[in-house]
Amino acid sequence: MIVLKLGGSAITDKDRPETLDGDALDSAAAAIASSLEGDVDDLVIVHGGGSFGHHNASEHGVTTSEGTHEAAAAMDIHGAMTTLNRFVLGRLHERGVQAVPVHPFSTAHRDADADLTLPTGQVETLLEEGFVPVLHGDLVAHAGEGATVVSGDELVVDLARSLGADRVGLCSTVPGVLDADDAVVERISAYEDVESVLGDSDATDVTGGMAAKVRALLALEAPASIFGLEELEPFLDGSNPGTTIE
Ligand code: IPE
Repeated sequence: MIVLKLGGSAITDKDRPETLDGDALDSAAAAIASSLEGDVDDLVIVHGGGSFGHHNASEHGVTTSEGTHEAAAAMDIHGAMTTLNRFVLGRLHERGVQAVPVHPFSTAHRDADADLTLPTGQVETLLEEGFVPVLHGDLVAHAGEGATVVSGDELVVDLARSLGADRVGLCSTVPGVLDADDAVVERISAYEDVESVLGDSDATDVTGGMAAKVRALLALEAPASIFGLEELEPFLDGSNPGTTIE
């Protein structure tokens, strides 16, 4: 079982609001389709927002900790993410992948301590029935805050843990975690390995920064890889491109 995140920036045009990077998404869909024809059986996909969702969230002042109580704001942000989700599903369908949506806004919530609860019964049943569930960064109900953002990274970590994933992949715009000379760090087994390049702050940046990603992935039991789009197929075929975090 593999949990794969398609980074928002990897599948959209970051410089133009609500614009897909159609070629990038299509090549990701092709790699996913060919892996499912090969050895991969159980695959859960999570995609981020890129040029969808982020600007809507910032227009409404909504973050992972600052929420909204306005339905119109919620619909704007959630709507941008479901629009992108439909594009992602469409490209997967063109390649014959049995992809179906699971919208976190309809299933997950945060308590007053901001702890996320993400039920996975539907994801597990969909996998057993041969589907490829596709989740995405979204809004979630948040006790005391209204609705806040949940990032794709947060969903990936939560899903990997509760589904007992064998491998986790983060397909990104960078070929891995880069060292001071911009070379890919092959393996990270402790945060100290990369502290000098990523910094030692206990940053609370859960939607973006590489430091937060690395910390969250180190805490997982399953090995995780961070790699660029051209390495998606090798990753799905079982090799360890980019940076391996375990
Ligand atoms: C964005 O998800 C979700 C919203 C802003 C609603 P991510 O934070 O996972 O997106 P990327 O991958 O970093 O673009």
